[in-house]
Amino acid sequence: MKNFNLSVAFLLFLGLSGLQAQERIPQVEALLEKMTLEEKIGQLNLLTPGGGIATGSVVSEDVEAKIKAGNVGGIFGVSSPERVRQAQELAVKNSRLGIPLLIGSDVIHGYKTTFPIPLGLSSSWDMELIKETAKVAAKEATADGINWNFSPMVDISRDPRWGRVAEGAGEDAYLGSQVARAMVQGYQQDDLTKPHTMMATVKHLALYGAPEGGRDYNRVDMSRTKMFNEYLPPYKAAVDAGVGSVMTSFNDIDGVPATGNKWLLTDLLRERWGFDGFVVSDYTSVNEMIAHGMGDLQDVSAMALKAGLDMDMVGEGFLTTLKKSVEEGRVSEEEITTAARRILEAKHKLGLLDDPYKYSDTGRPEKDILTKENRELARHAATQSFVLLKDHNQVLPVSKKAKIALIGPLANDQSNMLGTWAPTGDFKLSVPVLEGFKNIAPNSRITYAKGANITNDTAFAKKVNVFGPKVEISDRSPDELLQEALKVARASDVVVAVVGEASEMSGEAASRTNIQIPESQKRLIRELVKTGKPVALVLMSGRPLDISEEMDMPVSILQTWHPGVEAGNAIADVVFGDVNPSGKLTMSWPRNVGQIPVYYGERTTGRPAPTEEFQKFKTNYLDVPNSPLLPFGHGLSYTNFQYSEIKANSETLRRGDSLVISTKVTNTGKIAGQEVVQLYIHDKVRSLTPPKKQLIAFEKINLKPGESKTVEFPVTVEDLKFYNSQLEYVAEPGEFEFFVGGTSDCEMQGSFTLVEE
Ligand code: BGC
Repeated sequence: MKNFNLSVAFLLFLGLSGLQAQERIPQVEALLEKMTLEEKIGQLNLLTPGGGIATGSVVSEDVEAKIKAGNVGGIFGVSSPERVRQAQELAVKNSRLGIPLLIGSDVIHGYKTTFPIPLGLSSSWDMELIKETAKVAAKEATADGINWNFSPMVDISRDPRWGRVAEGAGEDAYLGSQVARAMVQGYQQDDLTKPHTMMATVKHLALYGAPEGGRDYNRVDMSRTKMFNEYLPPYKAAVDAGVGSVMTSFNDIDGVPATGNKWLLTDLLRERWGFDGFVVSDYTSVNEMIAHGMGDLQDVSAMALKAGLDMDMVGEGFLTTLKKSVEEGRVSEEEITTAARRILEAKHKLGLLDDPYKYSDTGRPEKDILTKENRELARHAATQSFVLLKDHNQVLPVSKKAKIALIGPLANDQSNMLGTWAPTGDFKLSVPVLEGFKNIAPNSRITYAKGANITNDTAFAKKVNVFGPKVEISDRSPDELLQEALKVARASDVVVAVVGEASEMSGEAASRTNIQIPESQKRLIRELVKTGKPVALVLMSGRPLDISEEMDMPVSILQTWHPGVEAGNAIADVVFGDVNPSGKLTMSWPRNVGQIPVYYGERTTGRPAPTEEFQKFKTNYLDVPNSPLLPFGHGLSYTNFQYSEIKANSETLRRGDSLVISTKVTNTGKIAGQEVVQLYIHDKVRSLTPPKKQLIAFEKINLKPGESKTVEFPVTVEDLKFYNSQLEYVAEPGEFEFFVGGTSDCEMQGSFTLVEE
């Protein structure tokens, strides 16, 4: 391969067994021909100059020298057309072959226009909306010089202790796959040569969302059938949608770290799934294989390359050891050429090889970033992500004429509105809830009081404040804060309490074993309820919380995640009823931590519990029922929906045919609303224990008051398939029950039988 001669043929195909045949790109091959071994290794090196995006300088000595020497394939943490041009010039004008850089970034939920955290966005169940947010993120980020994004994060998780559930789309493989596809399409739009699109990275391959004990970076162990059926589909969906790159995860799989796992990166990703982009490690995850027990830096770097890793993020193990490994015969130059080719192909796909400065248009930021339209989309997206968990006595919506006590540590806060992983956003641009209330209801009488600190625990607050003050503990005593709030509450018609987690109480390296609202705020809520005033909780968090106590109180609860730059306006839109909430949970909320993992798609057991009542020798607990506190798919509206005429148009389904399951949905309330109509199946007899329920389709509909719509879900054999013990993707004949409703906790409505031809 290394003596590849361009004149021999215009088109050649990858010679690796089982890989998708792929056209060679003459421009890339011509470059590879000219490259020394060191230059090829240089392409595999991803650096960050550090210092953060806002203040970072691309020309920090080390990085500059390395770029000039041709030792860098990409950088991240650098933005603005000017800085990116500067960086590209270093590469283009100074390195021997002038190969431009990939410019990466973590654009997780919007660039400067910050959208709700991904778990919130997924709760909209609106794939067009999610795609649109990714499209806007790409437009803004590329205007600022970025061409490669470390998103979407599609790790399925059933463990709300894990802080990074905030970054994903929840517990379900089917829904997660739809979200993965929408995001890749939004970022890349099927045409990476356009200046408004950027290359997406699906991460973190694989199973990063299933660490033992919900502790970040912890080990993962699961069966192949569980992986294939319940955890891998979203990564595959991103690959099928044409994602340009894949990031490995920090954890091990079958005892082998993902970053050096040949089964994962080559057998599965390339050979089975046909992925033809490039694979990047997570931050120093090559080096971390030393701590995993895989050898020294040279060993782990060779292991990762041979497993199928193409680019080494930050750790420089590739840069500093691969040449030696070639000389010692531990890796071949051909393996390095293959990885370098993939990086160069990515640069070709982006059009960088023809125009290294295509993302350096100084006129774009002002035109494309934080536009009025983008902020409007952020506000709309936030309203769509909110989930009405409970509406006691219809406290919500609140009348704009009411005398409102706006209470709580998050009620007039700016630093937590963007949510975790929003490093490109500016929290100072976010709208606090108090401001939003005044914007939306300028004539209303609103009195604000903090009421409590997010937490009174200074040691805990310090850990949460690593990226700046998110939790500010007041100089005033907790009692003083409380008494002031109670006074305000007693003088009001209604209390709106904005409570929950600070943004950095979830996210990376932010696992919790107690996922309740912090005690300082629980006390405030209890006391507010005691005033006898109607109370609505506006809850913020990056994860499902254990709110068993609050669910038992006479309060309404609107879950708003961390809503992004338009937080306050969006919350006011929904609290005052200008927008009717329509989000549905994409992760089950547990009754307590001991119930975790609790998720709707659990597989059958031999001793099912027939009811929620405890029964000896059945699978259940002595102290709590099996059901979660709030199920997947749950979410109320200010109106009501009635389901009727739920039926399948046939009792049998033949392979190659389809049948239709339909339902009539009627808005029986007085205002317009949206409903997410969900279809679940249960495979009654199959060779592997089936999930008790499995989402196979959904549709979000709008209904005016009194209006009815019939929703039809076509079902084909494809919807019934699963991976069997041989990991073959099959649908087995037999009976399937179906369930339709506005939550996963919906009743069985009938069944049909899959028959052989
Ligand atoms: C995270 C990744 C992220 C990377 C680069 C890591 O710590 O796990 O999700 O893309 O840093 O910022």
